[in-house]
Parts: sequence; structure tokens; C-alpha cells
Amino acid sequence: MNKKFNTCNNLISSKANNLKGAIVAPPDKSISHRSLLFASLSIGISSINNLLNSDDIFRMIKVLKKLGVKIKENKEGAWFVSGVGLNGYDNPKSDLYCGNSGTLARILLGALSGNNISVTIKGDKSLSKRPMDRVIIPLKHMGINFSNSTNLPLTINGQNEITSIKYEIPVSSAQVKTAVLLAGLNARGTTQIIEPQTSRNHTENLLKYFGADIFYKDSPIGKNKVSIKGGKILRAQKIDIPGDISSAAFAIVAASIITNSSIKIKNVGVNYYRIGILTALKKMGVNLKLINKRINEYNEPVSDIKVNYSKLNPINLEGTYSAKMIDEYPILAIAAAATNGKSRFCGLSELRYKESNRFNAIIDGLNLCGISVESDGDDILIKGNRNNIEGGIKIDCDYDHRVAMSFLVLGAISKKPIEVIGCDSIITSYPNFCDHMNYLGLNIKSKSSK
Ligand code: S3P
Repeated sequence: MNKKFNTCNNLISSKANNLKGAIVAPPDKSISHRSLLFASLSIGISSINNLLNSDDIFRMIKVLKKLGVKIKENKEGAWFVSGVGLNGYDNPKSDLYCGNSGTLARILLGALSGNNISVTIKGDKSLSKRPMDRVIIPLKHMGINFSNSTNLPLTINGQNEITSIKYEIPVSSAQVKTAVLLAGLNARGTTQIIEPQTSRNHTENLLKYFGADIFYKDSPIGKNKVSIKGGKILRAQKIDIPGDISSAAFAIVAASIITNSSIKIKNVGVNYYRIGILTALKKMGVNLKLINKRINEYNEPVSDIKVNYSKLNPINLEGTYSAKMIDEYPILAIAAAATNGKSRFCGLSELRYKESNRFNAIIDGLNLCGISVESDGDDILIKGNRNNIEGGIKIDCDYDHRVAMSFLVLGAISKKPIEVIGCDSIITSYPNFCDHMNYLGLNIKSKSSK
């Protein structure tokens, strides 16, 4: 893995003409994290194709190596993970650093639970502010001890004897669900987790593929119940990772809002519980088509997506969408700004706890660009004004990759360029974002090369 990512902290995005051409979506970050982690808990050597090359994933690899897991990449870019079994991690000689990655920190806590070791987990400034109690509360019920109940840094004391629980989470979260299910792998009896709406179910699909005794149903509406029986050994697998809809969303929205655009994004994972963004965009009038749809070996649907420029209408989006598109609100807010009317996104309290406070970032950033945006409790109201997006400003994204990429897309249709500070963060999920977007026709430059 290339640890030296090509980064630039200040990027400027200026008016762009139509977008044309095709790109292959970068590999899915959620599935990359899970593939490595679940492979480490298996018996045998798993091979992983199309692993995301990004800082978050690099951190996962480093953490697992510290825990005694052997991980290698071959010349063709395939990765091989020699699993150590359900409770086979070594006690690491130093702390485990998770960088900017909430997914890594939270799902790692679940995987560490069943190991009789004591380790300290740390993160960068942003991750150290993010809530960990949502994972710690259920894991404590399962008998695990922590030095700190709220934030990183914290020390976890794992143990071989874990109590199974039935746990209902107040807010849907794939990270919490994953942590509890991973701890449940080592528990006596059956652990059940219930969430108000189904969040991304990659963990369920992959754990089943690795041979876990896991039970779940397709639950598109209402509560989601997932159960896992402890004690079943996981077996190494061959995993091919599809492209990330959350990264593809930037090109999809860019093509939807830039006049005369027509692009194709290949190999995108289109799991039902991830594609709220596509449903929302279609409702707004975007002309997009899923072609060449197939189902991969662990039940994940994959497709190519064709998008053409469309005149967008505003949208009223209920809170039930949030579980299916939690990471896509910043870029959907850009699409709403490109309409000529009032959009309302409901029930977005969770946006306050992401890599930055995205709830405020959307409101403050769009207001700075001349678009009128306000909050109403946990809802965001955006008064789109397609032909009057002023720009000509600097936005500090507070080291939040998705906020950075979203405002760079907005620069393509604003009257004056938009400069974004903190773009180094883009390496956490989409290191070749600028190459891809400029290849399609965007006009993003580093400040120094201006
Ligand atoms: C993720 C789950 C989501 C999402 C994050 C990735 C995952 O977080 O925002 O980017 O891979 O499980 P929550 O579980 O907090 O909703």
C-alpha cells in the first residue's frame, strides 16, 4: 500500500464545462475495513482483491500487524491476510493508532473484546472528540472493561469469557452493530442486536460468507434484528471489493448539476441499505440508470451507473433516509443548492458526530457561498438558487474529507471559485478524487499551482 499519498491542503475549484467520460469507483471503505478485520479473525489465509488504498485502510493494516496478524500485498495488488482465529491477537507492544477513522476504532473494539489482552486505542484530534460510548455501553454489558467510557484514548481489557446480550440501539449504526456482533462471536450463547432501521448490512453479508452462525432478514422497513451464535470458527475467504457508492456520489452529483454532462461510473456497490442517495437524486429528477447489475459472492449487488445532467427539483427527505445515506448529506446538500426551491432534510442529529460536525458544516458553508440555509431542530432547510451561487470564498472543512469534496463540487457551478482548506483529509477515503474529477472535466487545482 502506498503510504505516501499525494495531498494538498488547499484546493481551489472553478467553473467547469460539461463532464464526460467514465471512471471506475474507488473500492468501498466499509467493506475494505471489514474484509481485513474479519480475515484477521479467521483460520487460514484470506485473499482480498481491490482493497481501498487510503489512509483509513492503511491504519487498519498497521493496527492488525501490531496485533500479530501477517498481512502482505503481492505485485498485482492483491492482499493476503493470515488469520489468527477468534481470540488469537498478540498483546501489542505499543498503543493502537486509528488516525481519523471512526469505523476502525469502533469495530476494532468489538474484535478485541474476546482477546485476553489489554490495549490502548488512540486517534487524531477529530476522532478523539467523537463519541465512543455508543460502542462501550453494549460491550460493558457483555462484560468488557474500559478505562474511559466516552472518548479516545481508552484502554480496553478484553477477555475470553463474554456474556451474550440482547441489545436495542437507539440510533441505527453499522459500526455499533458490527462491534456487538464481533464481540458476540466469542460469547456464550446468542447475541442479538436490534436497530430502528437497517443500516448498511455488509457485516452481516461478510460474516455469513466467513461461516459465522448469523441470522438476519432483509428488513427494508422498520426494525432490524440480527443474531449471532458464539463459538463458531470463521474460515478464510477470497474477497473481491466493489466500488464505494459514497465516493461515487461526488461524480454522480457533479454530473447531475453541470449542464450537458453525461458520465459513467463503473463497478459501484449498490447495496439497498447504501443507495438512499440514488433514490433521493431520482426523486429530484436526476436521469440516472443502473446497468450491468450483478450480485457478488457475498451477496452484495454491484452495478455501473450512468448519469446525465438534469434540471433538479427540490426535495423533502424524511428522516428514514438517514440510515441509507448517512455519509451523503453533504453532497446531497450541494444538489439541493443547485435547484430553484426549498429542500428539507429531516432527522439529521447523527450528522453532528461525524468526522466534523457536518450538520453545521453544511449550513455554514452554503451560507458563505450565498445560499440561504437554516436549521429547524434536527432538520436542514436549503433554499436553492441555482444561478446565484456566489462562491469567491474560503471554506475550512475542519479536516473532513466529505465536506471538502462536496464544496469542491459546488465550485464547478459557483460564479467565483471556492477554495477549500483541509483537503489533506481526502486521503482518508478517496486519494485520487482530484485526478478522477479533473479527468471527467472538473477544474480543481492546488493553491500553489494556481
Ligand atoms: C460506517 C458506518 C456509518 C458511516 C461511516 C462508515 C461503517 O457510521 O457514517 O462512514 O463502515 O460501518 P455509523 O455507524 O456511525 O452510522
